[in-house]
This record gives sequence, structure tokens and C-alpha cells, in this order.
Amino acid sequence: MSAQLIDGKKIARDIQQDIAKKVAAMTQQGNPTPGLAVILIGDNPASQIYVAHKQKACEQVGFYSEKIMLSHDTKEEKLLSIIDDLNKNPKIHGILVQLPLPAHINNQTIIERISPLKDVDGFHPYNLGRLAQGNPVLRPCTPYGCLKLIESTDIILKGKDAVIVGSSMIVGRPMALELLIAKCTVTVCHSQTQHLADKIKKADILIVGTGKPELIKGAWIKEGAVVIDVGINRLADGSLKGDVEFETAKERASFITPVPGGVGPMTIAMLLSNTLQAATLNKGLFE
Ligand code: GUN
Repeated sequence: MSAQLIDGKKIARDIQQDIAKKVAAMTQQGNPTPGLAVILIGDNPASQIYVAHKQKACEQVGFYSEKIMLSHDTKEEKLLSIIDDLNKNPKIHGILVQLPLPAHINNQTIIERISPLKDVDGFHPYNLGRLAQGNPVLRPCTPYGCLKLIESTDIILKGKDAVIVGSSMIVGRPMALELLIAKCTVTVCHSQTQHLADKIKKADILIVGTGKPELIKGAWIKEGAVVIDVGINRLADGSLKGDVEFETAKERASFITPVPGGVGPMTIAMLLSNTLQAATLNKGLFE
């Protein structure tokens, strides 16, 4: 079997075009333009690229956007006060603080300071709690994007064995909650998991987000599995590799995401979708 590629770039483009149409219609009717604020602290090159992509996408769909660049040594208090202002700002419907943060800033304190109504990352305990209750509001972008990619294959999720590799707050944990809502039987593997290969061999649906290039060997993939690779790793020779050994995995899977062009564009599309949702749900609340 040679897998069909899941074209995340195209699926994301379709979602963005739909959002752009909705933005044009809502602003024509006199509604406020959806606004996103992105905060970047320090000079992590990967974060700089992600933030630039997010801003460009905002422009493409007609959002208002603000980019707030802070130096690496910014004090936590300063960041909190910026978030307080953005929470009150009527032009801003979504706030995103790009992670990772410098070590002197407490992630949890920052995440909890963002109003849950403007938490377009879906990381606030309110939004993660709603997801855990099976009643999500703003959903973490990468897992939500992965779910859309799986749904694009038209496979039936109900009753399938899903295996997730990686238990981060950004990907693995919320992914497990999404797939539970979809009625999969979910296994979450992490750095202490024993017999990883045996678990992966049972996966009808495999989602990998570990940041370890080609950790998952093609030979471990179950025949016909759907493989979603969240990893994007730059090797010393400059090439990009996923967390899954693509060439061999594609001979066993039924569907697989490429790296790049799979999950990456979907994270941005779902961020735009969340911002539009926040602007619609909370219309007029901050004026
Ligand atoms: N860093 C890597 N992925 C993400 C994400 O989805 N949101 C934020 N805020 N930071 C990230």
C-alpha cells in the first residue's frame, strides 16, 4: 500500500478562504473586525518564524492584528500588565503568547492571566477543562487542526484505536481529549512508555508530536493506519524531518501527512478560526 497524502496546505487554505469571506460579510454588516494580538518574547528563531506566519495569515483574512515584541529579559510583571491591557482592549478578540517563554517567566501564571474569552490558544484551564468535559469552547489549535485533517480522510473515528505519542499541553493531552470526544479508544505514550513499538503497531490512528526526528519507524505502522506527524525538525544539513520515518511509513499507512505541508498550516488556520469564534461570541463585550 502507498498512502494518500493529506494535503494540510490545501485544507488550511480552504479554511482561510472561508474565514476571509465571513470576515468581509461581518464587517460589511457593521460588526467589529476580529483582532488578534501576538506576543513574542526573546529571539528564538523558530518562534519568530511562527509569529511572522501568524501575522501574515491575519492580514490575508482581513483581521486586525498587533505584534508585541519584547526582549528576552522582560519581567513577568511587565508581561502580565500587557496582558491585562489586551484583556480590556475592545479591538482585540484573541491573545496569543508564543511559547516557549524564557525560564524566568512562569508559563502557568501567564496562561491563566489571559481572559478565557480571548484565549485563542485554548490553553487556559477553563478552555482545557471544557474540552475535558466534552463541551469545548476555544480548542487548542494544533490538535483541533489534526482532527480536521483526520476528518478530511472520511474514515469513521468511532471505536478506532488511536495512539498519541507525546503528552504536552500543546499537542498530546488536548489531542487525547479530542479523540475521546470522537469516541476513539485512546492511548497516550510519552518518554517513559515501555514497548512503544508494540503500542504503535496497534494504532488505527497515530498522532506523533515529540520533536524527535524519525523516532517512529515505518515498520511499526499498522497496515492502513492514518498517520498524523506533528513534528517539524530541522537537521544539521538544513532539511526538515518529521517525527515519523516518512518514506517507509507511507508504504504501510492509508493516509499520511507530509512534513512540511501537513499539520503546520492547520495550526494557523485553527488559530484564525478561534479568533473569529471569539470575536463572534464576545461581540460588544469589551466596548
Ligand atoms: N509554540 C509552539 N506551538 C505553539 C502554539 O500552538 N501556541 C503558542 N502560543 N505557542 C506555541
